[in-house]
Amino acid sequence: FSLKPYNTFGVEARSRFFTEVNTIDELKEALTFAETQSLQLLFLGGGSNILLTKDFDGLAIRLNLRGISEESIHENEVWVTAKAGENWHEFVMYCLQKNYGGLENLSLIPGNVGTSPMQNIGAYGTEIKDIFVSCEVLDLESFELRTFNLEQCRFGYRDSIFKQEGRGRYVILEVTFKLTQKNHSIKTEYGAIQSELENLGIENPTIQDVSRAVINIRQSKLPNPKEIGNAGSFFKNPTIPLAQFEALKQQFENIQGYPNGEMVKVPAGWLIEQCGWKGKQIGNVASHKLQSLVIINATGNATGKEIFDFSTEIINSVKDKFGIELEREVNII
Ligand code: EPU
Repeated sequence: FSLKPYNTFGVEARSRFFTEVNTIDELKEALTFAETQSLQLLFLGGGSNILLTKDFDGLAIRLNLRGISEESIHENEVWVTAKAGENWHEFVMYCLQKNYGGLENLSLIPGNVGTSPMQNIGAYGTEIKDIFVSCEVLDLESFELRTFNLEQCRFGYRDSIFKQEGRGRYVILEVTFKLTQKNHSIKTEYGAIQSELENLGIENPTIQDVSRAVINIRQSKLPNPKEIGNAGSFFKNPTIPLAQFEALKQQFENIQGYPNGEMVKVPAGWLIEQCGWKGKQIGNVASHKLQSLVIINATGNATGKEIFDFSTEIINSVKDKFGIELEREVNII
């Protein structure tokens, strides 16, 4: 089975078995099949954060569980639950239509609801941990359903328990978010949002205006995976000790950094651009011309291996020039 339609990089890779599941029972059936055949498992959500570097000799399961439900907690708070297979952006739009606030800064992020907790998706000043209540998972060891609350998920920057010790053990089935119904807290601290709202001539933005601004910013510099294969930011923004940052500042006076205690987060896009990668293409792979942190399948014919090797070259050159080791954000399979 070709997995090309199921990864936003659009690379070809084949899996020995493939199934799409719409219910928990179908999922359990697929898992039982895998167990009897001793097959390895690969779960596919929106396919927007994986790089398939080779064929997969197991069972790929695409999670299609759909449905959105809500519970009004009090006049200003509503809990909205979406099943794993709901498309993230459509879910955000659904909530905005109902005038539920909290997700607007996360507009237009590719992928599905079910994978959002894995890496605590975030953009423009919001991360899902800010509005997260809980998620329901299937524990592959016990075959039981379990609920993880905010604390248990151990969210960090692009990180959670599902990427650490829980890796491969839990399948996320649904996620519940805590949204506002009336008194929305509008987050426009992120510089790019402010300037986009100014461009739009908006002074007192609604949550819908913030979403519009975020969509405009993303469309202006991030490639649409439907047109050019990519998986968003390929690397995490590295965090380095303040002393190392100060030393780098002596040598590279334009280096940017966002201090957080004794550590400083440095924009990986800037580091990569300084190494001359912005817009550079090797074979079928390139660094995006408007956002060098995004690696693209430039010709549509790239293999996962080619993309992986390209990313290794970027890591090496950033390490040589700045002494900083970039970490891949995308899941390498
Ligand atoms: N920059 C450059 N050159 C580049 C790209 C960026 O110099 O080629 C500089 C920019 O000038 C800016 C700084 O780097 O001063 C930060 O750039 P930007 O605002 O585009 O954000 P980012 O740090 O590159 C992160 C997330 C994005 C998210 C944006 C907005 C990570 C790894 N990426 O990117 O998330 O949309 O902030 O909040 O944290 C994703 O994870 O897939 C993703 C797109």
